[in-house]
Amino acid sequence: MLEEETRIPTGIVPRLLKWYDQGHRILPWRTTPIPYYVWVSEIMLQQTRVEAVIPYFKRFVTELPDVFALAGAEESVLMKLWEGLGYYRRVRNLQAAAKRIVAEYDGEMPASYAMLRELPGIGEYTAGAIASIAFGLPTPAVDGNVLRVLSRVCEDYRDILKQSVKKDIGTQLAAMYPRGRCGDFTQSLMELGATVCIPNGTPHCDQCPLSDLCLAYQHNSTDELPVKTPKKPRKVQRKTVFLLYDGDKIALQKRAEDGLLAGMWEYPNLDLHLSQQESIQALADMGIVVTDLEPWGKAEHIFTHIEWKMQVYRGVCQSSGENKFVWVTEKQMEEEFALPTAFRKIKRKNP
Ligand code: ADE
Repeated sequence: MLEEETRIPTGIVPRLLKWYDQGHRILPWRTTPIPYYVWVSEIMLQQTRVEAVIPYFKRFVTELPDVFALAGAEESVLMKLWEGLGYYRRVRNLQAAAKRIVAEYDGEMPASYAMLRELPGIGEYTAGAIASIAFGLPTPAVDGNVLRVLSRVCEDYRDILKQSVKKDIGTQLAAMYPRGRCGDFTQSLMELGATVCIPNGTPHCDQCPLSDLCLAYQHNSTDELPVKTPKKPRKVQRKTVFLLYDGDKIALQKRAEDGLLAGMWEYPNLDLHLSQQESIQALADMGIVVTDLEPWGKAEHIFTHIEWKMQVYRGVCQSSGENKFVWVTEKQMEEEFALPTAFRKIKRKNP
């Protein structure tokens, strides 16, 4: 199909709403779709699967039940609530936005796409989702799920990673949003993408309310769509990570306040894979004299654009207090220090 001929059929609207009404997943943020819950859930769902988000969401809104509680939360509490979800900038932005909502809007989230879009961490997708689901406005939320569904329905071979394609789909969708059911329409598209028109594996076209309109279904081309141009390969970074014990305490350090995992806690580590001898020397240069340093295995972690290949050593030393590290007990680690998943993958055992 030619690019400029890609038209989303308006027939998707009644079909999707009817299908959504007949049953959909009961999710905690759907049961009580107040703006704060919709916002928090959408931020969590940006890079994390629904099943993984549910317990985090429940814990988060129990501990921080409204915008005021979020705005006033201690950073360590926030990080602990987010520990394991990754992409920690999301929670920092969440709090920055909460502070602005308190300062500028008396703690009420603004019922306007444009005003939501101005808040930290709220992009086009999230603003569209909140405005439609929480405020009933005709604003599409175009994510990968929605693009997949519509590229198949329209048998649209354009690259869905292109901003121009996303924009075109958003403009077309906005014009067909059903007044009075905007939130349900947004959620029905998401729901279809997540449960029927699935990303990996064969879509369940026999259960799809759009199959009579779907050109990819009719032409047997669902496995060719959506089109995504291959991304650049991730940059691989090698690291040597140290589990350093002094008695029952382990060394942690704080990452820089900007960049990857900004301001998070981590085990001491150095760039590149160092040999045992090089590691002992490098630690000595940092004022840490290890009495024992043994190889402790390997771990890997994949971020969006970077991949870490970590080689781990475990060492015993008597150095706490004389260096830049913070020395913490197991209990403090569990309760007070949020460690990103990249480091939590490294199993530690007290010597
Ligand atoms: N993915 C992104 N937003 C979602 C929502 N509100 N419900 C279910 N899945 C989602």
